[in-house]
Amino acid sequence: MSERLRSENEEDLLRLRKMLGKVVGDDEAEVRRRLEKSEQARILDIACGECREAEVLTEFVAGLKGAGKGDVKLTGMDVRAREIEDAQRRFGGKQDLKAQAGKQDCEFLTGDASKLDQHLELGEDFDLVFMRHQNYWNGAKTWEQIYDQALNKLDQDGRLIITSYFDKEHELALEAIQRLGGELIRTEFNPEARKLPTEGKSVDRHVAIFKRKR
Ligand SMILES: C[S@@+](CC[C@H](N)C(=O)[O-])C[C@H]1O[C@@H](n2cnc3c(N)ncnc32)[C@H](O)[C@@H]1O
Repeated sequence: MSERLRSENEEDLLRLRKMLGKVVGDDEAEVRRRLEKSEQARILDIACGECREAEVLTEFVAGLKGAGKGDVKLTGMDVRAREIEDAQRRFGGKQDLKAQAGKQDCEFLTGDASKLDQHLELGEDFDLVFMRHQNYWNGAKTWEQIYDQALNKLDQDGRLIITSYFDKEHELALEAIQRLGGELIRTEFNPEARKLPTEGKSVDRHVAIFKRKR
C-alpha cells in the first residue's frame, strides 16, 4: 500500500470510529449492559474483504465493554479468499488491544455469507454484526439473503451496524433490513466521508444501527 493510500485509510478509519460512536449514541447504555454480561464480546464482520476495520471494531467494542473487561473476538468472512488471507496475515490470532486493557482474537473465514446458517460453528449469539460498504446494488437477492442471515446471527439484544457508499443503496438496504426483521435505531450521514471518484460515492457515507424486532 502506498503512503498516500495508507494515510487515507487511517483517516477513513478515524472517521468510521467517530461514526460508530455517533450511531450507538443514545443506545449506548443498553449496548454496554448487554456487553457486560458476556465474558468475551463477539463481533461478526460480514463481507469484510481485507477487514481494514478489524482493530477499530475490536477497540470500539472493548471500550464499550469497560476497562479491564475488554476481551473481544472478531470473526470476519468474505467470499474472496485472497482478501481473507490478507486479513488473517495482518490481524489474525490473539493480540493485546492497543488502546484498551484486554485481548483481541481475530479469525477470518472464506465463505458465502448468504449461507451463514451452514456455519454452525459460529453460533448465533453475536454482540455485534457489522457490514462495511454493504453492496445491495450488486445483487439485491444475494444481499437480502446476507442481511437475513446477519440478523439471525445476532443475539436477541445484539446490534447490527452497516455502512454504505451511496445514498440510494443505503436507503434500499435500510428498507430491506427492516422488512427482514431489523428495527432501525439510528442512521447517520457522515459529513466528513472521503469522496471517491464515482459521483455520489464516499467512504462510510452512511452508517446505520439496528436491533432485532421482538
Ligand atoms: C463493496 S465490498 C466491501 C468490502 C469491505 N467490507 C470494505 O468495506 O472494503 C463488498 C464485499 O462483499 C463481498 N461479498 C459479496 N458477496 C458475498 C457473499 N455472498 N458472501 C461473502 N462476501 C460477499 C465481496 O467479496 C466484497 O469484499
